[in-house]
Amino acid sequence: MKRLLVTGGAGFIGANFCHYWATTHASDRLVVLDALTYAGHLASIATLEAGGALRFVHGDIGDGALVTTLLEEERIDTIVNFAAESHVDRSIEDPASFLKTNVLGCQALLEAARVAWQKPDAPSSRRFHHVSTDEVYGSLSPAEAGFTERTPYAPNSPYAASKAAADHLVRAYSSTYGLPSTISNCSNNYGPYQFPEKLLPLCILNMLEGRVLPIYGDGLQIRDWLHVSDHCRAIDLILQDSAPGETWNVGGSTQDPNIAVVGMLCDLVDAAFTAQPGLAMRFPGSAAARGKASRSLMQHVRDRPGHDRRYAVDSGKIRQRLKFVAATDLAAGLAQTVRWYLDNESWWRSVASGEYRQWYARQYAAARK
Ligand code: NAD
Ligand code: TYD
Repeated sequence: MKRLLVTGGAGFIGANFCHYWATTHASDRLVVLDALTYAGHLASIATLEAGGALRFVHGDIGDGALVTTLLEEERIDTIVNFAAESHVDRSIEDPASFLKTNVLGCQALLEAARVAWQKPDAPSSRRFHHVSTDEVYGSLSPAEAGFTERTPYAPNSPYAASKAAADHLVRAYSSTYGLPSTISNCSNNYGPYQFPEKLLPLCILNMLEGRVLPIYGDGLQIRDWLHVSDHCRAIDLILQDSAPGETWNVGGSTQDPNIAVVGMLCDLVDAAFTAQPGLAMRFPGSAAARGKASRSLMQHVRDRPGHDRRYAVDSGKIRQRLKFVAATDLAAGLAQTVRWYLDNESWWRSVASGEYRQWYARQYAAARK
């Protein structure tokens, strides 16, 4: 039986991971530590907390005293660190908050684990798993092979630079202090509970409310989309089977430009409105309710500064050594995701707070200039 501390467990991937873990490892202890920033939502894990499947603690990974208390009183043997500022556009506006959580917060968490786990009565089997991103490797040209675990780091955004710094700290704690750690660098995730600042949920909700779908630049940037359920399963395999000190790249093996992915979402939303006439009553502002194709809402806007052109992940190592293959293909995963947002209107209305709406209005006004 494992005793897990899941940091950032009220965010998108962390919440999905908690649902996954509570289902697949029901006898394990789950403790979530989350600062509940604009991106963290108790609603995403409320059923788990109410059902006693996890304990929620409101707090910051940078609070060493709090983390130490939790590690000791819960006898935590496994830390999975999802907590981060995660949105590239916000990192361009406010890099300092990214350094505070993603670098200093991560170091405080590593330090608390190092100290707690070197005590004589510490749990005998211990693991610190750090969730990182393929964005640390920078951008690929069209013909270049995908990122491997040996690709040199070349981060281009403050977000990617802060994640790269955290990866180096995790490595240093492993090499210097022998902290038993692993790192996964995964590609863009999508699926349920994703905050609507990221491309896919933003476009789904904008379609439902009849707002434009902002396509940065020419829209030909490529991401390697990974369904969040596949990512959770990959982390599970790493926790079960990886030796400490290893890093693992995890991708979904898709290579579609943004404009094509948004187009697929448009067609899925239009098909849902055709199949379910009640949707037009629920979302009267949508293009679909007014007899127009959702694709008509797509609009090219000013590009993101330093925008990485292409990401592609070579998942060969995790496929060969841990037998991981992403099971959800993009078309099926997008259909499931559109269905989830249609079925969970109360969740997305509750998370898209006033702060977020103001930020979005500012962001979009700037992007149009
Ligand atoms: P998210 O922004 O949805 O959630 C982040 C969570 O961390 C939120 O619940 C927030 O409240 C919490 N948090 C922020 N600062 C904190 C702090 N100082 N202390 C405690 N909690 C804090 O992010 P996500 O998309 O779920 O990403 C999770 C992790 O996966 C991040 O580390 C991110 O870099 C990484 N990642 C994400 C993607 C993706 O496509 N979303 C891809 C690769 C890697
Ligand atoms: P995003 O979801 O922000 O993830 P990341 O920047 O971490 O890859 O963006 C995914 C892609 O979509 C990226 O190429 C930027 C682009 N994008 C848009 O074209 N319009 C938008 O409104 C957003 C948020 C992103």
